[in-house]
Amino acid sequence: MYKSMPLCWVLASLAACVFAMEAQDLEAAEQFYHIQGVYYPAWSVAVPAAYAVGGQLVSFSPDRLYPEATTNKAAVSASSSSGSDKKDQPQHDTTSKKNVRLPRTVLPIHYDVRLFPVLEKDNFSILGQVSIDLQCQMETDRIVLHSADIVVDPKSVKVIEQGKPAGKTLTVASDGIHYDTDMEFLIIRLEDKDKLAKGANYTLSMNFVGNLTDQLRGLYRSTYKEDGVEMSMAVSQMEPTDARRAFPCFDEPNMKATFTVTLGRHRDMTALSNMPEGMEEFYWDHFAPSVPMSTYLIAFIVANFTQVEADVGNATWKFNIYARPSARNQTQYASEIGPKIQTFFEDYFQIPFPLPKQDMIAIPDFAAGAMENWGLITYRETALLYDEKKSSVANKERVCEVIAHELAHQWFGNLVTMDWWTDLWLNEGFASYAEYLGAQHVEPGLKWPQQFVTRELQNVMSLDALESSHPISVVVHHPNEIHEIFDRISYGKGATIIRMLAAFLGEKTFRQGLTNYLKSHQYGNAVQDDLWDALTKQAKVDKVPLPTGVKEIMDTWTLKMGFPVVTVTREYQNNSVLLSQERFLMQRSNASSQDKTVYLWWVPLTYTTDFQKVGSTWLADGQTSKKHELSIPADKNQWVIFNVDQTGYYRINYDSKNWQMIGQQLMTNHLSISAINRAQIMDDSLNLAEAGLLDYETALNLARYLEHETDYVPWNAALTGMNYISSMMSRTSGYGLLKKHFRTIITPLYNLVGFDQKVGEDLLLTKLRTKAVSWACSIGNKDCISRTVNSYAQWMADPENIDIISPNLKGIVACTAIEKGDEAEWEFALNRYMASNVASERDVLLTSMSCSEKPWILAKMLEMSLNPTSGIRKQDAARVIIQVASNSLGRYITFNFIREKWTEIRKVVSNKFFSRIIKAVASSFNTELELKELIQFREERSEELIGAERATQQAIDRAKNNLNWMDVNKDTTLPTTFHTPSNDDESSHYY
Ligand code: BES
Ligand code: ZN
Repeated sequence: MYKSMPLCWVLASLAACVFAMEAQDLEAAEQFYHIQGVYYPAWSVAVPAAYAVGGQLVSFSPDRLYPEATTNKAAVSASSSSGSDKKDQPQHDTTSKKNVRLPRTVLPIHYDVRLFPVLEKDNFSILGQVSIDLQCQMETDRIVLHSADIVVDPKSVKVIEQGKPAGKTLTVASDGIHYDTDMEFLIIRLEDKDKLAKGANYTLSMNFVGNLTDQLRGLYRSTYKEDGVEMSMAVSQMEPTDARRAFPCFDEPNMKATFTVTLGRHRDMTALSNMPEGMEEFYWDHFAPSVPMSTYLIAFIVANFTQVEADVGNATWKFNIYARPSARNQTQYASEIGPKIQTFFEDYFQIPFPLPKQDMIAIPDFAAGAMENWGLITYRETALLYDEKKSSVANKERVCEVIAHELAHQWFGNLVTMDWWTDLWLNEGFASYAEYLGAQHVEPGLKWPQQFVTRELQNVMSLDALESSHPISVVVHHPNEIHEIFDRISYGKGATIIRMLAAFLGEKTFRQGLTNYLKSHQYGNAVQDDLWDALTKQAKVDKVPLPTGVKEIMDTWTLKMGFPVVTVTREYQNNSVLLSQERFLMQRSNASSQDKTVYLWWVPLTYTTDFQKVGSTWLADGQTSKKHELSIPADKNQWVIFNVDQTGYYRINYDSKNWQMIGQQLMTNHLSISAINRAQIMDDSLNLAEAGLLDYETALNLARYLEHETDYVPWNAALTGMNYISSMMSRTSGYGLLKKHFRTIITPLYNLVGFDQKVGEDLLLTKLRTKAVSWACSIGNKDCISRTVNSYAQWMADPENIDIISPNLKGIVACTAIEKGDEAEWEFALNRYMASNVASERDVLLTSMSCSEKPWILAKMLEMSLNPTSGIRKQDAARVIIQVASNSLGRYITFNFIREKWTEIRKVVSNKFFSRIIKAVASSFNTELELKELIQFREERSEELIGAERATQQAIDRAKNNLNWMDVNKDTTLPTTFHTPSNDDESSHYY
């Protein structure tokens, strides 16, 4: 019977294709048919069988397949019958914005998704069928769901009522299929007589065709070379709103359902999805039904990849790493730490990982760093693969961080999901906090708790100190707005305030409250208040003394933008301090006077005089800017430090005597102050000086203690601060003098850590060396320059020798040699880039290529970034542009480039990366002319900057800050405040 059915049923009926069939393939298809012993719609076996023949699939563009399907925005008002439940709709004012939310008249319960990604050159497409079990919540004559760039066969759309006796088929109106392309809705309207009844269940099914694009979203294609042969694979990236590009679905995070996935594939390939395979088949892989989950966590993959099974000890799940076959040797590290971190989180959350398997896969073309799809985590190659010989400590740190982050999401995000994207920060902020716990568990040598302060807290403060920052919790509607909030505020500030919360509640209470929260919302959704409730309850149980509820405290941090600077003025005569808070802004403009927000926070304060005893108190959000008096057990000759281990998200400024005493302590024995607080002191003082709240003399004198410092984290904080001064001054006549002063700070460090790595040394010492060498070379240390240039020359003479340059110095060696060298040095790096099989090494080489001082080479790199045949992947285009913009010579070339090649760039680069490009170009703008041009650019392109408006404003704010900074500091303070250390008595330098 089957043989008599037209094998190209789908294609024949949809695209009128004709192709030949071979007996052998028929047999395969038939075999499959019998093994199953169940009836499968003809199309579901037909397509892959046809494909396996290698038959000519006639090119079918979705656009011309179903002319009957109309695109008519006006015809149907989708939101006319929205539900009214609190969680169903955004809980904020939406009048000014279009309501892009789906109505809640029907809710999905289960999806049966069958997809066949066609990986044929000139015919990259997706053939699909979906059937969705729905429950009707409210009588309606239409079903509204998401769909984008998909064409549905109107004749295939069926709505069947479930139940006994066998379901009745409802009739779809003859003109009842509409696409609202703006809203990305598919609207299915029934004939007048038919209605979906409240409480009844239905199955909606349809066949459709989509595009397998190279746009790195939805279900898309990625390509790579294996033994010189070009290979294609299909892979998905759904978050936040692109599942609708792979199959019609209810694409909102709180419309959870279970999914049964079937993927069609060529016989040589492997198909993967969130769940393990249920059965062994030839052409179709059937995956077990999933747990209830959101659409953005669905994943589909069809590829010829290699599988490495990790040792999981006695865990209940399997754990696999997948990669290109020729990258197999780079999967070892991930397979070692993956299962360990997953086990760690099972213990931390006190909830077992609920799926039978976890897969992690490295994708050659991938827009984000990684994606936490439940049970099938996808990564950019640099975020999963690690080559013992060719990758650096920084690469190891990245892999460890990203794996821990995505695994934390399996609970926080996947098991309990934010109700709507407004609470995205809860997902990303929490994972960004928890990643440090997971990473510390497997890689303690990287001192993650210490690194947290520079990598997250101090890093995000620089953005959050701008007037154009935004609150963590943002009301968002449209996909563009949703994309825009995947930023440092959601991640870094989110992580930081959660760390602060864990610190003031105490780890035990925090963890138990968290477990209670996860258990009570598992397989469901939650808003931030649900987390605050669970923590408040646990704090009561544990009798944690709090000045008010967790919600009241945390609302001041999530609903207001920015953070405070707490000023500590000691009353030396009576052992007390006066405390006050105000918003820390890098620069105040007139705009702030129109902002009616009361910038006061609930500030959990801690302080110490010796790091043996820690005191704590609260500054209330209601205490206006009035001074709060606190008595502290400090002798008048004893320093006091606030914000112990910088667990609080605020800066501290002291009276000058206290600063001075801290400085003396640092000079005499810096180790009596914790490494995190040393980093805090460097970061706070340099930033307070930058904002004009502290004189540079104080800040730079504090930094003199660095001659004794050997820890990475305080150095990192200090160098980041100095980097700003350096980038501002680099085009001024004072730069020569500044460089000389920097040399006096860096040279002792460079001499201490040396150029050569010792076997088995501390990982953070290796990282410190990378920084020291990079700074030494950039400020013209002769030894540094000659060593780097020589090493590079040796490498050029012996290109296959990987022992000449340590991977930890390869970036700076290549950068310096290319900067000082000529075309040949650059060409060599390009050749090594093309030849390398290790993505992290490729990244390093590409970055160093942008160090060239030849304008034409920089221009060439910019052009290459957009050229699909240049060897630079689309995923890396933005990085290249950003790197060139970071070269002071390339900054302006890049600004011209983005103005000229605007349209082309927009085609290749997503909003998120476009924002980063604008920021990279403008970060060092500090002249009137540059600022004027930037503002003009924004005005000319305002319409096209949708989704990057805030980033553009932030770039403008930053340029204004810079201009202001130059006015104040350029000619006056800086050169005179730098002291060249001499043999003089140190204290005489010091005030
Ligand atoms: N959920 C994100 C991936 C994502 C990012 C999806 C942006 C859609 C838009 C994932 O968990 C993530 O945050 N990845 C980070 C890496 C992480 C270690 C901070 C990334 O992609 O950079
Ligand atoms: Zn994340």
